[in-house]
Amino acid sequence: MIILSVESTCDETAVAVTENGRNVLTDQIFSQARLHAVYGGVVPEIASRSHVEVISQLADRAVAEAGVTRGDIDAVAVSYAPGLIGAVLVGVSFAKSAAMALGVPIIPVHHIRGHIAANYIAFPELEPPFLCLAISGGNTMIVDVRDYTDLHVLGATRDDAAGECFDKVARVLGLGYPGGAPVDRLSQGGDDKKYHFPIGHVADHPYDMSFSGLKTAVINLVHGAEQRGEALDVPSLCASFSAAVSASLVPRTMAAARELGRERVAVAGGVAANSRIRHDFEAAVRAEGKQLFVPPLRLCGDNAAMIGCQGYYEYRAGHTAGPDLNAYATMEL
Ligand code: KG4
Repeated sequence: MIILSVESTCDETAVAVTENGRNVLTDQIFSQARLHAVYGGVVPEIASRSHVEVISQLADRAVAEAGVTRGDIDAVAVSYAPGLIGAVLVGVSFAKSAAMALGVPIIPVHHIRGHIAANYIAFPELEPPFLCLAISGGNTMIVDVRDYTDLHVLGATRDDAAGECFDKVARVLGLGYPGGAPVDRLSQGGDDKKYHFPIGHVADHPYDMSFSGLKTAVINLVHGAEQRGEALDVPSLCASFSAAVSASLVPRTMAAARELGRERVAVAGGVAANSRIRHDFEAAVRAEGKQLFVPPLRLCGDNAAMIGCQGYYEYRAGHTAGPDLNAYATMEL
């Protein structure tokens, strides 16, 4: 089954062609990061406009690069929630038009289910059940993947997402947007014990997380140092902050895996690119004799191949939509 898939929930416009879920024929991504960098974060109107400008060309290129014809496409999958509503609407409108023009079904895909499915592309042997930590710019959740389309959220952040926290810390340090990668790079030359940051807990909800206290602690530290004219050890600050984020994520995910008896642990989403989090997961999983799945960097961030992959399993479960499909800013997994 050949699926044309579309992703436009934030600042990447992406179109892919996949075969039977896991075989990626092409994965075209246009990143808008350059357009938003000057503002220090994503500007929703600019994101929507840029998606409109590039999506048709990207789809034409995807079909050409995949070596298929339009007539070979069996369905169109689209990331329809959650995300910046104007941005998601562009992808949904394009996907509905394409599906109508081609006379094929349209498959709505939850963006975070897509991130989790990036692991199926990277690891052909991976099948549910497994436990997955999904960490991106807008979402942070621990998910029990019972089956391809039967996912249960065990816990989630109560405030900021982990990626948002990286981006805000990068902003206050003047490291630009998106901030996760530069914080990660700098942290590698730092001492992760030099600064002490709080790790959020939510009473009676062991798998829920909170990052706003950590974010505020870093911002206050930086502002305080600026006011006193003191120099900060930025690499050590980045290392201590990354260690605190990781300490919030890794032990919780491992505890959930133990409680549910899951032997396979996966990580997904843009923040899964973080070297400290990857390193801590590798150590934790090795210590418990479990198996770890973390996609390569190119499949961690937003892409359309993951939407095509999850779309295949949604289609097999009978989850298709009609021309009345809408876009949603928020949606349960
Ligand atoms: O999954 P993604 O591309 O978009 C969303 O669906 O949100 O994730 C983007 C997030 C941004 O917050 C970015 O700063 C973060 O992933 N990120 C990282 C790293 N690379 C990207 N965070 C920490 N360390 C990294 N190496």
